[in-house]
Amino acid sequence: MSNQSNYPTSLFSSNLTFKNENQSGGALSIAGCSAEKLVKEFGSPLFVLDQEDFYLRARAWRAALDNSFGSGQLYYAAKSFICVEVAKWLKELKLGLDVCSGGELAVALAADFPAQDIEFHGNNKSEVEIRKAVKAGVGTIVIDSFDELNRVATIAKELGEVQKVYLRLTPGVDAHTHEFISTAHEDVKFGFSIASGAASEAIEKCMSQSSLKLSGIHCHIGSQIFEVAGFKAAAERLVAVLASFRDKYSMELQELNIGGGYGIAYTKDESAISPDLVIPAIAAVIKDECAKAKLALPRISIEPGRAIVGPTTTTIYVVGTTKSVKLENGAERRYVSVDGGMSENIRPALYGAVYSAFLANRSSTAKLISSRVVGKHCESGDILISEIDLPADIAAGDLLAIPATGAYGRSMASNYNHIARPSVVAVINGTAREILRRENEQDLLNLDVNQPPRQLS
Ligand code: LLP
Repeated sequence: MSNQSNYPTSLFSSNLTFKNENQSGGALSIAGCSAEKLVKEFGSPLFVLDQEDFYLRARAWRAALDNSFGSGQLYYAAKSFICVEVAKWLKELKLGLDVCSGGELAVALAADFPAQDIEFHGNNKSEVEIRKAVKAGVGTIVIDSFDELNRVATIAKELGEVQKVYLRLTPGVDAHTHEFISTAHEDVKFGFSIASGAASEAIEKCMSQSSLKLSGIHCHIGSQIFEVAGFKAAAERLVAVLASFRDKYSMELQELNIGGGYGIAYTKDESAISPDLVIPAIAAVIKDECAKAKLALPRISIEPGRAIVGPTTTTIYVVGTTKSVKLENGAERRYVSVDGGMSENIRPALYGAVYSAFLANRSSTAKLISSRVVGKHCESGDILISEIDLPADIAAGDLLAIPATGAYGRSMASNYNHIARPSVVAVINGTAREILRRENEQDLLNLDVNQPPRQLS
């Protein structure tokens, strides 16, 4: 799909520039803050989030939804990246928030995010989490299984509430993405299958519970998707469910949530899917199918995470050791080690995700040589970029920038090898501030306790 709008579809955030740029990089600035100064001030590795770019993308997705459907709701997927400050931005933008754990809910509540604009997902929510969500007045709980349907109904009854819910359905669509991030085919842990009849059984059960108010249905077909066909097929199948609901109950479900999953660019050869193209295409299918089935258009919601935060953020690393090895075919490969790795970006190791790297403190005219960017973890699989041409003169102390790390980078970070998780710095109009601080050794040591053994009662 080509991009006809002004939506930024490259791997870089909107306010990112390289001084004296050539293909391997240059002195990097984001929103007027130089990479060198940022690292000097906040250390490395460092996630640098272009705040204006975040707002721009969030508004563009929201506008596409409003333009195509009149109105709707955008629930930002917190799992892609959330902290209290970002939750405050989302509140200011008047967006909704999709959370999928008690922890994500706690962040939202700490930001005073309006509970009615929160949607609670997850295939195995605990009783404690459900109780916390119902008590907090969370707008919608997305029910994922029969067990959970009973749990939510019981807890809502106990608390004297009627909880608004959606049912998560699996429309049997193969989303053409990595197996681990594809979620709507039959053989997955999520949701009620439409094809097997589980979805209609769940609807019946939901309708018979006085403490549940079934308002709509939901599906999420997967993540990092570029083809519109999968979204369209899912939309068609969901509208068919809405029609059979109307036929059976002589009333219409008001809401339809078609999930997130919109793909972004990680390399210069790729291009993000643009909201101005994908949302109207999905809208056309939904409107058409609703008209055919003589259904009023439901209120549509979407749940993008990666598409909003992914390209906003660039990770900056300091280069440490480098070494060259001879490959079996006689070629040479140079290893460039940076001061982070699989603990703040597990995506290459987990999904084979491909990233790009650029020199960020200077430009270089040195010959480009075949390189592998690796982290500092005790693991050979700790590879950030398996194969990339980088200038031959890269050496210890140089800065290397990896763009498009905003989604599922910091949020999936671990403390492997007792490495502290990096900070996230928001930059805007030449100013920088930490919105998530770097962990330190003491933070990690604080988890070690020295308790005497005791009998369990
Ligand atoms: N809604 C639901 C119900 C989801 O499960 C997800 C993502 C989203 C929305 C947001 O999807 P997005 O627009 O960000 O693609 N860790 C993987 C991605 C896992 C996505 C899980 N669910 C990765 O790093 O690629």
